[in-house]
Amino acid sequence: MEHYKIEGGHPLRGKVTISGAKNAAVAIIPAVILCNSACRLENIPNIEDVAILRNILSSLGAEVDFSDNVFTANPVTIHTNEALSEDMTKLRASYYLLGALLGRYGYAKIAYPGGCAIGERPIDLHIKGLSRLGAVIDFDKANGIITAKAHTLVGAEIYLDKASVGATINIMLAASCAEGTTEIHNAAKEPHVVDVANFLNMCGARIKGAGTDTIRIVGVGRGNLHGCSYAIIPDQIEAGTFMIAAAATGGEVVIKNIIPAHLEAITAKLMEAGVSVDPAIEGNDYILNVASTMRPRPLRIETCTYPGFPTDLQQPMMAFLSTARGESIIIDKIFTERFKHVNELNKMGANMRVLGNGKAEIIGVESLHGADIYATDLRAGAALIIAALMAKGETRVYNLHYTDRGYENLEEKLKALGARIKRVN
Ligand code: UD1
Repeated sequence: MEHYKIEGGHPLRGKVTISGAKNAAVAIIPAVILCNSACRLENIPNIEDVAILRNILSSLGAEVDFSDNVFTANPVTIHTNEALSEDMTKLRASYYLLGALLGRYGYAKIAYPGGCAIGERPIDLHIKGLSRLGAVIDFDKANGIITAKAHTLVGAEIYLDKASVGATINIMLAASCAEGTTEIHNAAKEPHVVDVANFLNMCGARIKGAGTDTIRIVGVGRGNLHGCSYAIIPDQIEAGTFMIAAAATGGEVVIKNIIPAHLEAITAKLMEAGVSVDPAIEGNDYILNVASTMRPRPLRIETCTYPGFPTDLQQPMMAFLSTARGESIIIDKIFTERFKHVNELNKMGANMRVLGNGKAEIIGVESLHGADIYATDLRAGAALIIAALMAKGETRVYNLHYTDRGYENLEEKLKALGARIKRVN
């Protein structure tokens, strides 16, 4: 079975350039459907989730091209508002097809989204929000199909019980093409929410307040958004993953193509653990120099919505803290079952356990050793690769399709930093 063969114990050293943000790309690509002319998207990462969305758009009839990180799509040739292919079930972000098709055509029929199994992932807030705009939504549970219809979408006040990224963006997509004004209260503030709003505004939408708790969207009506050229933000989570990998291997890595403000939570926690994280400017760009030579100090980390510590970095951080000098506590109330990596890390000599209700403890050990381990989801995969880079001896990491979904050229980037990693078929 395909795996990464990793010989651990070699500190990462050198420079790495961060790719475009997965979670921005997977929202902005479906958002193109709202436009009445072609879009050119730059800095799109070459990852499996993007390849799947490309297929989905193509199957709707859009003219799509993707090369050298530039994604072009002409939605004018779309001939159906039904996205029912199996591809829809392969990723979580296919839920954006609901808001996008509904906003553009007043009708959407989509297959139920899939994605990483990291616990309960309901979409009730998406549905409530779209219903508030006037959509009538029907679930065909037996066949896994959701249908949404609205003669006209009408702006409304929407309060989200939880600051859900997906619900905020889905509502923003549909509300951009509604009649009248929508206000989303308790909106998610993640960088990719702001990026989607900036993209939509470039297309003629009228969105204010993205990045705060309240987003105000003055609908411009169906079919009135136009295409544009847009470069998406760098990936906050990929940057955080490389920062952790640099620290975990006792190396020194310069992280390029980043927005430092997006990395404040991870920077603060790494520094608390004793890692040096120094921002600098190279040419016109920000860079971060991350260096460590010692076993980390233990930490208490609680995941939170942005600008708090991201749940997506909780798993890689647990690999890093496996060799801390003491006991660390991790609390993830966003996805309380996101701990499937724990068993795998314990196979490598880590001493951690899940206490339940989103809490885990890590008793730091002196070092990890090689083992055969299996990724269970995207960020668990990143955690296992970091652990393998830290460990003494050889590790085989299986289930590479997870990391392929979200990390561009992972093997090449790590090799360039001196990692002994090889993809074996
Ligand atoms: C997105 C990200 C994912 C990240 C997560 C949290 C994408 C494609 N994925 O996932 O990488 O880990 O944000 O930052 O951008 N919830 C509900 N009802 C809903 C929607 C969500 O109860 O209708 C709950 C979820 O169970 C979870 C919390 O709200 O506890 C946050 O989820 P949400 O922000 O929606 O995550 P995703 O959009 O699934």
